[in-house]
Amino acid sequence: MKKAKFVALLAGFSFISLAIVVQAIIPSRLKETSIKYVEKTIRTPLGELSQIKADARPYEGQIEKGRKIYLREGCWYCHSMYIRPVAGEERRWGPVSQVGEYVWDTPHLFGTRRIGPDLIREGGKYGNDWHRVHFANARIIVPDSIMPKFPWLFETQNGMEVPNAEGEALIAFVQNLGMNRGKWRDEFTSQMVTGGSAAITTPASLSHGNEVYEKRCQGCHGEKGDGKGPAAAFFAKVLPRDFTTATFKFRTTPSGSLPLDTDLYRSITMGVPGTAMPPWFELPEVDRWDVVQYLKTFGSYFTESTPEPPFFVPSAPKSSEELLARGKELHGLYQCDACHGKDGKGDGPSAATLTDDWGDPIRPADFTTGVFKVGPQPEDIYRTVMTGLNGTPMPSYDSILSSEDDRWALAYFILSRSADQP
Ligand code: HEC
Ligand code: HEC
Ligand code: HEC
Repeated sequence: MKKAKFVALLAGFSFISLAIVVQAIIPSRLKETSIKYVEKTIRTPLGELSQIKADARPYEGQIEKGRKIYLREGCWYCHSMYIRPVAGEERRWGPVSQVGEYVWDTPHLFGTRRIGPDLIREGGKYGNDWHRVHFANARIIVPDSIMPKFPWLFETQNGMEVPNAEGEALIAFVQNLGMNRGKWRDEFTSQMVTGGSAAITTPASLSHGNEVYEKRCQGCHGEKGDGKGPAAAFFAKVLPRDFTTATFKFRTTPSGSLPLDTDLYRSITMGVPGTAMPPWFELPEVDRWDVVQYLKTFGSYFTESTPEPPFFVPSAPKSSEELLARGKELHGLYQCDACHGKDGKGDGPSAATLTDDWGDPIRPADFTTGVFKVGPQPEDIYRTVMTGLNGTPMPSYDSILSSEDDRWALAYFILSRSADQP
């Protein structure tokens, strides 16, 4: 009996020692554990995208605080943080995970189940306004969601539900996820639309479009398409678009014109970065085309008139120092400065007084943030300068800026404002 106890004790110690060696000592000595670098996409001083190797940054301040809340709330029970190199995960979520991304993660938050989507590439996918509604009550915008509400992360201010300090920290943490990989989203092909066609309307496609709208869009854009959905009450920045006036910002058509079907399809696929408008590239294409047709039925505009012919946007030349210098000059010459500010920070002398066609205050774009509503390619900026943004004070320069070189110069100057610091 004594001998059996001794054997059990010895076996106990051996197994514990073995566990410590296998799970702690060996992993801590593996070379991979100390790899800090990751592949990162950056914007160069010339305004182009480029890949470098850079060290992952440790969690600090708000973000570290947010990480603790993520742990405390058990988000990891439903969400993983790991993009595997299989089954097209790259196309759905973004680049496959690299060792260096996890170097500061103690404890790690890989998660073992995907009851909700993977979150390691979540940063920048939606604007902060989206997360506000989603944490308060996900079902307002995702009716079939089983994600819980987190009312203790909110407080009421002036009759509006706003995140408290913990809520803000959690949003900061979520928006930082994947940021060690830099501007990878600017070259994420799943979210891009290049070609296109017109959508075909049949009674069946319209009723399918209606279903998609009720499930995916109504929470923000409202039952009547007037932008007054229940989610709007949470938004700090840009309100959902009112479709009844058929004023669309992002087009390939001239100022004042209706958009083409492809323009709407593109906005829906790409979303409007920095605002609550989500990218919908994960929706089947037929859902996106049918909802385009449905949107057009909110007013009579699309039956009474037709869009004007679109502009042709050629493909961009390479950037150069000369182009940038010319761009800077034009930015002053055409008084882009007056609204966007000398350095493109959105702080020009007229900036504070602007309103949009819906009567809401609007700020000129801050080019230094690197977040572009119209898209991050030089072609996107070129197009915007020609078309202007209907419903906003951003004018069309099509007739004024006739030289193609000058248009590219402005596009690259604007992109170069968000160059990454070395
Ligand atoms: C019971 C499981 C569950 C828990 C717990 C949970 N979620 Fe979710 N989450 C989901 C599901 C399911 C979805 C997909 C539907 C939706 O968007 O609401 C989701 C979606 C999300 C999304 C959007 C992902 C995307 O790309 O569309 C984010 C961000 C998110 N959750 C963050 C969190 C955070 C942060 C916590 C903890 C505070 C948390 N979740 C807790 C189930 C959960
Ligand atoms: C969480 C809120 C939210 C949801 C859900 C949402 N949107 Fe939006 N949407 C917005 C906001 C906010 C804007 C305004 C962006 C701006 O003006 O900068 C917008 C703008 C738009 C625009 C205008 C683009 C332009 O050219 O001016 C279209 C089209 C659009 N949404 C379609 C949809 C469709 C279709 C769906 C559903 C599949 C949808 N939205 C779901 C918030 C949302
Ligand atoms: C009267 C003020 C005004 C002037 C002048 C002006 N803009 Fe703008 N611009 C705006 C506003 C306001 C927005 C933001 C619209 C929005 O957020 O919906 C904007 C947005 C933009 C965007 C879109 C950025 C993004 O998020 O994708 C570009 C590009 C741009 N402006 C370039 C220019 C250039 C180049 C000039 C000069 C040739 C110029 N703007 C002159 C007010 C102005």
